[in-house]
Amino acid sequence: MKTVKFGAKALLLSAAIALAACGEEPQTAEERAAIIAAAETRVPADPVLAEKYERACQACHADPENGAPLSGDVRAWTPRMDARGAEGLLQSTLNGFEGMPPLGACPDCGIDDFENLIAFLAGDEK
Ligand code: HEC
Repeated sequence: MKTVKFGAKALLLSAAIALAACGEEPQTAEERAAIIAAAETRVPADPVLAEKYERACQACHADPENGAPLSGDVRAWTPRMDARGAEGLLQSTLNGFEGMPPLGACPDCGIDDFENLIAFLAGDEK
């Protein structure tokens, strides 16, 4: 009997992994609203970084209408991180990318700032 139970669990687990891998897990309206609310309020803990974030990145990355991946929306950031890696995302920010201006509209941000801001956007609590 134990083997049967384990088999069912393993099947469910692999189904969940397959869904996650395809990005087809349904997102409820509540989940989406929570992500938007979090994006609108979260700022980096470091005050110097927070000032740059609020001045440059936040206007677009906390606006669900903008088309930018939302701040802290891990689900939106994971495929970008997987596709281009941290270095690729840094290059996108430096050069500009689709709707995003070069340097993410932060001319006084250094490379460290960009790396920290990208990590923060992608979900790290910096
Ligand atoms: C004027 C609006 C705007 C501002 C300001 C802005 N972004 Fe973006 N950003 C976007 C949009 C829109 C996208 C999505 C582009 C697409 O994939 O079509 C994006 C995408 C990104 C990406 C993903 C790039 C990729 O290769 O997938 C990173 C990283 C990023 N932004 C970082 C930043 C950082 C850091 C700041 C602040 C220093 C910033 N952005 C400021 C609009 C903006």
